Amino acid sequence: MNGVTRDRWSASQRLELHFWQTWTKAAPYQNLDVPKYWSEELPRFGCSRDFFTGRRVLDIGCGPVGLIHFVDNAAERIRIDPLLLQYESRMTLQGPQLSLAGLGEALPLASDSVDLAICFNALDHMQDPSAALAEIRRVLRPGGTLLLMIHSFPKWARPFFWIDRLHPHHWTAPAFVSQVGHTFEVERSETVRRRFEVPVSKWILPSSWKYLAGNLVVASTYVRARK
Ligand SMILES: C[S@@+](CC[C@H](N)C(=O)[O-])C[C@H]1O[C@@H](n2cnc3c(N)ncnc32)[C@H](O)[C@@H]1O
Repeated sequence: MNGVTRDRWSASQRLELHFWQTWTKAAPYQNLDVPKYWSEELPRFGCSRDFFTGRRVLDIGCGPVGLIHFVDNAAERIRIDPLLLQYESRMTLQGPQLSLAGLGEALPLASDSVDLAICFNALDHMQDPSAALAEIRRVLRPGGTLLLMIHSFPKWARPFFWIDRLHPHHWTAPAFVSQVGHTFEVERSETVRRRFEVPVSKWILPSSWKYLAGNLVVASTYVRARK
């Protein structure tokens, strides 16, 4: 997957910031139980919270309420996101931790220093996903694990990708798994249809339409990979 221009990425990031400033008002997220959400996502990678115990964990593109905030059994937690300082609603981290406003494409960390990396719903938001995968590989210790999730799309939807300005990149599930396989050993992958829960009473709201359309085309692809 080739990178996009800085302008294209910056335009997506402006939409991203707006999303996180308003997300709790969007129909699918109004009553979201965030800890429950994460406990239901972990089994998709074939792991539980115990997987993080005693490990140095890095979350790349962590957002304000990403998985890193819910694994307080890790030995050390590192979170990085270019918008981190602008997320006024960002959660705090307790215990050994490092918070960085930065890019997945240039991780300010030593090589072979991280046990477990998370990149959840973030690689398809980056300017250069290939460069970010190479950086994640560099900082992971040999045998370290990467947990990845992206939103994936069917091939037939390709002519419509341009409509989705929030994501600079779009993959089909097989193309994504194949790309990860160029840099890591893929241990398992799973693709499931994405269901945005929109109450029928809210279908009439224009702000709900993209989620209803998303229910027709969007899937989530989960990959667990090893360096
Ligand atoms: C959809 S959010 C996901 C946040 C979080 N991982 C979660 O699942 O709740 C995508 C995140 O990727 C971040 N992002 C975009 N470009 C990035 C880059 N080049 N390096 C690291 N993170 C990036 C965005 O700022 C945003 O916080």
